[in-house]
Amino acid sequence: MARIKAGVATSHVPAIGAALDNGKSGEPYWKPVFDGYDFAKRWINERKPDVVILVYNDHASAFSLDIVPTFAIGCAESFRPADEGWGPRPVPVVEGHPELAAHLAQSVIQQDFDLTIINKMDVDHGLTVPLSLMFGQPQAWPCKVIPLAVNVVLYPPPSGRRCFELGKALRRAVESFDEDLNVHIWGTGGMSHQLQGPRAGLINREWDNRWLDRMIEDPESLSRVPHIEYVREAGSEGIELVMWLIMRGALDPKVEVLHRFYHVPASNTAVGHVILENAR
Ligand code: DHB
Ligand code: FE
Repeated sequence: MARIKAGVATSHVPAIGAALDNGKSGEPYWKPVFDGYDFAKRWINERKPDVVILVYNDHASAFSLDIVPTFAIGCAESFRPADEGWGPRPVPVVEGHPELAAHLAQSVIQQDFDLTIINKMDVDHGLTVPLSLMFGQPQAWPCKVIPLAVNVVLYPPPSGRRCFELGKALRRAVESFDEDLNVHIWGTGGMSHQLQGPRAGLINREWDNRWLDRMIEDPESLSRVPHIEYVREAGSEGIELVMWLIMRGALDPKVEVLHRFYHVPASNTAVGHVILENAR
């Protein structure tokens, strides 16, 4: 039987990808960011997932105003890095797991969650930057990846509540897949940041860290926090954090924190990174 063995949360920022791709990760500005992922690289090398369900958001790369799916699952054999304006990132093509993805789609849809099925798409920094942070710069990504795209770019995004419940449905779906697979689920994006308007540059360390505490200890009540609090306290792009609740919903109520990291700034964003396993 397939099992969700761990949950990972990490921010994404295109400049992190650019720093790595251009050999700048050792520079004083970037070194503290990448140092925060040293533990993760050792840990994941030992725990080797077969498949990562990577919850992320597309930033108008695969989707546009023409089509805005709330939740979309990538069922393709592979996904190419998207061209976000400077050419595609020089990172490996992302290999999917069509059989498990199709099973997740069937199971989750039959649990009354509508997922859009995507059989062809490119993946942007929302997905490739977390892979780079966790795996560094390998010739090929060491596991299969199922992209699960969430709309947090165009109003209305899904509620934290719905995201948390989707995580629970995904767990049931994984556990009903016959093959023995070590599955990890990652929630990405966040933490506080605002890229536009008079409040551009907003960071809220206190709120972020309180949010992390609650995500770990009491996700059920955290999932009821309304959108407007994210926007007010964590900035307009802080809403990306609802994606971490999908990851959290797929784990037990009680979790063990293997690693926790928080750093400001990376570009315009507060970087948060957590590794969780179900408590023994
Ligand atoms: C930045 C952060 C994001 O989440 C994003 O999608 C683009 C840019 C930033 O901090 O620069
Ligand atoms: Fe983003």
